[in-house]
Amino acid sequence: AAIQRQDYAPPAYWIDAVQLTFDLDPAKTRVLSKMQVRRNPQVAPQPLRLDGEELNLARVQVNGAGTSFKMEDGQLVLENLPGGHEPFELEIFTTCQPIKNTQLSGLYVSEGTFFTQCEAQGFRRITYFLDRPDVMATYSVLLRADKAAYPVLLSNGNLVESGELDDGRHFARWVDPHKKPSYLFALVAGKLVAREQKIKSRAGTEHLLQVWVRAGDLGKTEHAMNSLMASIAWDEARFNLPLDLERFMIVATSDFNMGAMENKGLNVFNTKYVLASQATATDVDFANIESVVGHEYFHNWTGNRVTCRDWFQLSLKEGLTVFRDQEFSMDMAGSPSARAVKRIEDVRVLRTVQFPEDAGPMAHPVRPDSYVEINNFYTVTIYEKGAEVVRMQHNLVGREGFARGMKLYFERHDGQAVTCDDFAAAMADANPGSELSRRLEHFKRWYSQAGTPRVKAVGQYDAAAQTYTLQLSQSCPATPGQADKQPFVIPVTLGLLGPQGAALPLQLQGEEQPGGTERTVVLHEAQQTLTFTHVAQPPVPSLLRAFSAPVVLECDYSDEDLLLLLAHDSDPFNRWEAGQRLLLRVAIESIAAPAGGTGAGAGFDQRLLPPAIVQALQGVLRHPQLDAAFKELVLSLPSEAYIAEQLDTVDPQRVHAVREALRLELATALQADWEWAFETHQDSGAYRPDPQSAGRRALAGAALSMLCLAAQAQGDSVWPGKAYQRFKSAGNMTDRFNALAALVTSGHELAAPALQRFHALFKGDALVIDKWFALQAATPDRAGDALPAVRALMQHPDFSLKNPNRARSVIFSYCNGNPGGFHRADGAGYAFWAEQVLQLDAINPQVAARLARSLDRWSKLAEPYRGAAREAIARVAGHAALSSDVREVVTRALAA
Ligand code: ARG
Ligand code: ZN
Repeated sequence: AAIQRQDYAPPAYWIDAVQLTFDLDPAKTRVLSKMQVRRNPQVAPQPLRLDGEELNLARVQVNGAGTSFKMEDGQLVLENLPGGHEPFELEIFTTCQPIKNTQLSGLYVSEGTFFTQCEAQGFRRITYFLDRPDVMATYSVLLRADKAAYPVLLSNGNLVESGELDDGRHFARWVDPHKKPSYLFALVAGKLVAREQKIKSRAGTEHLLQVWVRAGDLGKTEHAMNSLMASIAWDEARFNLPLDLERFMIVATSDFNMGAMENKGLNVFNTKYVLASQATATDVDFANIESVVGHEYFHNWTGNRVTCRDWFQLSLKEGLTVFRDQEFSMDMAGSPSARAVKRIEDVRVLRTVQFPEDAGPMAHPVRPDSYVEINNFYTVTIYEKGAEVVRMQHNLVGREGFARGMKLYFERHDGQAVTCDDFAAAMADANPGSELSRRLEHFKRWYSQAGTPRVKAVGQYDAAAQTYTLQLSQSCPATPGQADKQPFVIPVTLGLLGPQGAALPLQLQGEEQPGGTERTVVLHEAQQTLTFTHVAQPPVPSLLRAFSAPVVLECDYSDEDLLLLLAHDSDPFNRWEAGQRLLLRVAIESIAAPAGGTGAGAGFDQRLLPPAIVQALQGVLRHPQLDAAFKELVLSLPSEAYIAEQLDTVDPQRVHAVREALRLELATALQADWEWAFETHQDSGAYRPDPQSAGRRALAGAALSMLCLAAQAQGDSVWPGKAYQRFKSAGNMTDRFNALAALVTSGHELAAPALQRFHALFKGDALVIDKWFALQAATPDRAGDALPAVRALMQHPDFSLKNPNRARSVIFSYCNGNPGGFHRADGAGYAFWAEQVLQLDAINPQVAARLARSLDRWSKLAEPYRGAAREAIARVAGHAALSSDVREVVTRALAA
């Protein structure tokens, strides 16, 4: 049964305070909840309906006396409550079974330690409650447990009391000074140790920071702690938002459905986003940790102090907080070019994952109108597109204006549960006269309309009049439930390049004088025309700089135009984009061309890339000034997913074969340059994960991979041999893993001993073993061997379906990260997928529903893939005992 945004109604009761007492026991945990409840005077008198799931109810009392109750649709319904508006005390005693909780929602046990995950609706699996974000209460939590087994007892807020009990048990009492919704509740109990750090805020208040991990992992917490300190300093410096707690804790668990969770003062993290050492974590891991630690910390204001009125407003906190973590990473990266690299990486995720989502059966607005299972809506649309919608507001009001908007947002709404409208209103009201404020209602279509808008740009040069007219038009394809779309407000940042690549001064018709070489125009109608005057020669337009709006830009560029942009654009994003357009064009033409077989690597004559493109890429690779990280991005081919997204009908094997052929061509055509790149990008000093050093390692890694590929094709073993040496002697995981991956993906015979050695070196380190599994599961298919290899990996003693990281490392890596191996003409990849969705669903519906998304785009596939994929989805849908999570995904997929 779908829940509609329109049906929102305020709660009939408020819970102002709650005292929870836990007697922690894996098999049977007892939970006593005492709540101070009162009727909401704004709502007509009605029974109190409390949410609950998989609980055993032992007792209900009102003001100390028994009361009547009934169960209805899984809710606990109390009809005979005191009348009037006086608060009353409601006491509920329940038990639950944490050890049996494989869903990892609510209270569960991971490696002998208790954890909770309450967002979105896990608190109801701990006790009966008004489990909705607009009910905010103060929490006082008493934890009791066996002291030997659970020496550390943590919850939100401040530790006010602790001590011994009988029978080897002990207790701790935590009080959270801030009101919060139930989804921010957390407790942790087990054998953990902490890295501690005391800090002083700008105002001079002291805070204790802790990162809690298992005993052996303490040495891998330095980077997380540094990231936390940097996050705190950044939020204070950039937005004037200080830490509002005496104590801030991060706890790591290896069993976690998502990345991390912003519970007030007690963030719980997937170990993947906490633990790092140079020997075990890659540069990407280090960067992700900084970004996720920042993300969760920034939620303390954008999410916790001001929270969501209902779950349809999820992007209010997620879109804004992703925007903040992106800005944090960019500010930490420092140089303008390092900022651009981060921007390119973020846009790449948006375009390869969110654009397909927005074009598929699960498409939904940033503020959805309905959902069946809220956990299915923790999506790239809510997060990444939501961040783009915040970024556009930032672009429209400017950096200072955005800071004013944030200030007003907190002045108005601190301590409240609000909506996306409230955020946009604060931004607009703090910036009267801005484009945002003038077009606010219109701008907010970004929240209500799904789908990726397409912007078409047509330029025309008039030599006689010395003018250049740019006609911009927009449209947006239909999405499920939204046939017709209204125009969006689209900020288009642009510049014009002269024939030699110089930035031209911009002067629009009617303006007295030119105003700079870059500006942001706002496209708000279906079609608008801009006329630039005093243009002496035909220019090349550089549009949507820094990806100023989340749209698809269509522009009729010639190859020469793109080569000019790639060589000269002052905007690094568009420089990269020009290269991607050139490569994408070649890929699409080759896919459409009749020559060449459809088998992987079959039948291409190695001359897909025009020499001018190869030369331009060589120019970038050898460029004396450009950053290594930027070069690596320019030299990377568009992903198979991104290429597929441009096609109406997708033959995934053909896409794979063309991309592999292009890769091989780049590898051989630039062989000497790759050698140069590898040799000249070696770091000798101490390992540092900063963007510059990471960029050098990324480029060296890409070079090594290309060199192994070329060598394999030429039957040469020099570079694979060097890769093996590097694999053995590398001083950090980035270099080691890149060398391993180069051997594995090129299919060299040294791959097998390297993999064996890698496992022996790192057995027992779960996060590294995840990498080992993931690399193999994503290894390009050779004569249909990928699927059997995946099945064999699942027989490995280290494999477990119950651990989400491990399941993802094998099953998701194959289904989402190995298109050539997954899309088999015999449909066996899809059958495997169906099998695994069903297996996982019985254990963990949230993880299963993620996997169920792998075939979202089935209806675009060519036959025989299309029919086989549909059949596999139907097989899952035909299963009677399906979770509502998976049911929602496959039902929507079949309706496509
Ligand atoms: N709020 C968390 C974050 O973005 C995500 C937790 C979502 N968990 C879930 N089970 N839906 O940082
Ligand atoms: Zn978040």
